[in-house]
Amino acid sequence: MKILIYILALSSLLFANADMAACKKCHPVISAEFETSMHKNSSVYDDKVHKAVWDLHPAKAKDDYKCAKCHTPNAKTAEQQHVGISCINCHTIMDVEKHAQSNKNIYSTEDKKFYSAEIGRENEKVHYKKISSMFGMSKTTVGSAYHDIDYTNEKFYNGQMCMGCHSHKQNSHEFSVCETDKAGAQNKESNCISCHMPKVDGSATTVRLSAKHAFHGFAGARVNPELLSKHVQLSLKKEATGFEVVINNKTPHNLMTHPLRVVQLRTTIIRDAKQIELKTHTFVKVIGKDGKPAMPWAATEVLKDTMIKANEKRAIKFEETLKNGDHIEVKLGFYVVNPKALKKLSLDGNKELEKFTILTREYFTIGQH
Ligand code: HEC
Ligand code: HEC
Ligand code: HEC
Ligand code: HEC
Ligand code: HEC
Repeated sequence: MKILIYILALSSLLFANADMAACKKCHPVISAEFETSMHKNSSVYDDKVHKAVWDLHPAKAKDDYKCAKCHTPNAKTAEQQHVGISCINCHTIMDVEKHAQSNKNIYSTEDKKFYSAEIGRENEKVHYKKISSMFGMSKTTVGSAYHDIDYTNEKFYNGQMCMGCHSHKQNSHEFSVCETDKAGAQNKESNCISCHMPKVDGSATTVRLSAKHAFHGFAGARVNPELLSKHVQLSLKKEATGFEVVINNKTPHNLMTHPLRVVQLRTTIIRDAKQIELKTHTFVKVIGKDGKPAMPWAATEVLKDTMIKANEKRAIKFEETLKNGDHIEVKLGFYVVNPKALKKLSLDGNKELEKFTILTREYFTIGQH
């Protein structure tokens, strides 16, 4: 019995991998980008941060991997949990069902039919066809020989297909551990997809050449944050005494959504070749229980929430009076894991996680007039 389950698990694991290998043949650029993304690397085997939290989770002792639904949606057994989110997971999301604890993806069961988005083709369902012209002298093809494409699913245009996993997650105390505002998944012009999958150079397929394609490395906190810098702007306003730095979050969700993250504003005055470091401002959402910070599964309350909110312009005041000729360097960045939690998660000593990542940096010079 055990052997049979193992063989079944192994064969469906091979199936998920074989499918991704197939996609790679005709979508090499997209597949290479995907390799580096947190979606590909969302399992406990590939994401150290996810593993560190799971290792402390009370459900681990019972081997009840509740995270599978979003982190390894192909997994039905422990063996399969090696495979993170696959191409097919996303491209077969037909609908998203709303639930209090967390939403649920409804996957289409039609064999090899993938949903996608392309402006101008919103009403098309494409089956592969060979078309002969000039008495059969030249042949062209329509669609993909490997799969059908359905361009009619509006959730692929407004970002709602992301919300099965990203909308919210409550723990067993009905406390919301993380949330992404729904405002970001409402219109075709600006949404989860347009910001996190911006159009970049390179063909979407080798079969039909295109100049650009939707970036599949999924820019975020862990990978390619620089692709998101332009959505957060910094400005400076000098006053008679002191000055103000304004953080303009043009993002429809809190600047960071995961409770492990810590955002900081670091400001330096460069005056007469001297550097004056000013106070670091920290923005966090701390969750906890009985007034003390707690892990996501135990938390029942928000202890502190200074995180930069969706579409917020946050003005930070400084008392130092600026002089003509001063240069001011302002950096907004973040830690993936709150430095105070590294030890508890046994992640201390990890260079990548101890690093402060700069999201946006700006230089200002105080004029002479
Ligand atoms: C034999 C080559 C081939 C293979 C293998 C293949 N595709 Fe495609 N795919 C294509 C072609 C060609 C198109 C473009 C069709 C068009 O523009 O009409 C396409 C288009 C797509 C699109 C829609 C693109 C758009 O225009 O928005 C998606 C999504 C997609 N493929 C996903 C996949 C996935 C996932 C796999 C692996 C499971 C895969 N493909 C395997 C050839 C292939
Ligand atoms: C206007 C652009 C924009 C839109 C629209 C947008 N985001 Fe973001 N998103 C950002 C920026 C900027 C950041 C912060 C920078 C970073 O994480 O590197 C971010 C961060 C994130 C992160 C990482 C947060 C963390 O704490 O690790 C996730 C996940 C995310 N967004 C998902 C979504 C989803 C899902 C949607 C749609 C509901 C969405 N975003 C809509 C710009 C956008
Ligand atoms: C997290 C969800 C997600 C995953 C995982 C994913 N895709 Fe996509 N993909 C999308 C969305 C959404 C679009 C539509 C983007 C757009 O056109 O704005 C898309 C678009 C595409 C396109 C059309 C690109 C273009 O610009 O015309 C192809 C081809 C494609 N995906 C193939 C793949 C392949 C191959 C993989 C795995 C290597 C994959 N996708 C993994 C969400 C996903
Ligand atoms: C099947 C569930 C699922 C779907 C669908 C999904 N995501 Fe994710 N996404 C995740 C999980 C899980 C993570 C965290 C992975 C990790 O860090 O281990 C994640 C992480 C991210 C990140 C953070 C990456 C980083 O570097 O920090 C971004 C950005 C993101 N997703 C955007 C999107 C967008 C945009 C869509 C829709 C096109 C989408 N996701 C659809 C499950 C999903
Ligand atoms: C409802 C979907 C969902 C479930 C269930 C889920 N997660 Fe996640 N998880 C996400 C998404 C989406 C992200 C991306 C970050 C964000 O949105 O803040 C994420 C990110 C994370 C991160 C941050 C990873 C990083 O790259 O820094 C950790 C840690 C994590 N999850 C742990 C868990 C654990 C442990 C479980 C199971 C006990 C779990 N998650 C269950 C959706 C889910």
